[in-house]
Amino acid sequence: VIVRHRHGDYKIEETDLATSLAPLEGCYVLTDKNVHAHWQHLVVDKPCYVIEPGERSKTLPIFGDCLEWLAEGGASRSSTVIAFGGGVVGDLAGFVAATYMRGIKLIQAPTSLLAMVDSSVGGKVGLDLDQGKNLVGAFYPPMSVLIDYKLLATLPNRELINGAAEIWKYGAILDEHLLAMLEERPIGPGDDRLPQLVMHCVELKRLVVEADELETAGTRAVLNFGHTVGHAIEKATGYGPVLHGEAISVGMVVEALIGEKVGVSPKNASDRLRMGLRSQGLPTEIPGCDPADLLKSMRLDKKAFKGRLALALLTGYGSCKLVHDVPEPVVLECLRENL
Ligand SMILES: NC(=O)c1ccc[n+]([C@@H]2O[C@H](COP(=O)([O-])OP(=O)(O)OC[C@H]3O[C@@H](n4cnc5c(N)ncnc54)[C@H](O)[C@@H]3O)[C@@H](O)[C@H]2O)c1
Ligand SMILES: [Zn+2]
Repeated sequence: VIVRHRHGDYKIEETDLATSLAPLEGCYVLTDKNVHAHWQHLVVDKPCYVIEPGERSKTLPIFGDCLEWLAEGGASRSSTVIAFGGGVVGDLAGFVAATYMRGIKLIQAPTSLLAMVDSSVGGKVGLDLDQGKNLVGAFYPPMSVLIDYKLLATLPNRELINGAAEIWKYGAILDEHLLAMLEERPIGPGDDRLPQLVMHCVELKRLVVEADELETAGTRAVLNFGHTVGHAIEKATGYGPVLHGEAISVGMVVEALIGEKVGVSPKNASDRLRMGLRSQGLPTEIPGCDPADLLKSMRLDKKAFKGRLALALLTGYGSCKLVHDVPEPVVLECLRENL
């Protein structure tokens, strides 16, 4: 898959990482402890900076450490950063590459299912602040994205299911055939459909991202289906106990119901998604959050305009649009119904 962007293009390809990384010179690898423990033999010949796994590493202090490590190691304008890990490493290393010496080359080597189907595609990189997730960042497309499915073999099952949530999202918003396929057989460990599914999702995301690279047209916002409620849940639960995919799974069910109530989504949308997502082993109910509290953080969502809620809502199976001015009472009611 080739993704075009305002400054050029990059390739997303299936590869054997050992073979494609070996000949590269002047590379600095950023990775986390889990990935490093399993796969360090793929990068032994390169300098590695190994961070603690998890969202708490996507911060300004760690970002600073990475930049200083590059400078210390003599990285120059012709050097390359390799983001070897899940979405946390991808976002952090991407922002490091975007800012070191005003930008050096970046290769994304995603190792989690979520990173393969979502975070490594589309050029968004960045960090969290104490005040909120992804508040600092850049649009910084990589030079290439190298996908090696073998690496999924060591991914914990909960993380596999976490990534599957985004695949269900693609089905719901862009491709009913994909949705039906997942309903027939949810994604499992060692699933032989993964290579084909990942590339299909990458292609779906490419289409959306190319049409609205900098998220100015509003069409890229469809990728946010389930995320307005999902982000609020992640925030309310303190980023950690509920994984991103788990939060958006609940978010998709609630937002489907909101869509039904405001009359833009199919009548049984929330029931259909609830059933499917449950069969995938994903949660569909809000884990002990206060609806009023969730609504409050939804007002701070980047899509909200002058404090009025805007949500990506299904307009059918496989179609979605950004809907402005969604009434708060409807949102509250739907949050309560899914407690
Ligand atoms: N830039 C974007 O467009 C975009 C899109 C979606 C999500 N994101 C970001 O991505 C992050 C979430 O990504 P994630 O779910 O990959 O989280 P993650 O990077 O924390 O990885 C999840 C866990 O799996 C482990 N892991 C990863 N690959 C492994 C492997 N092959 N074997 C064993 N363990 C492995 C990691 O160490 C970690 O513990 C969030 O910070 C989110 O904001 C960014
Ligand atoms: Zn997401």
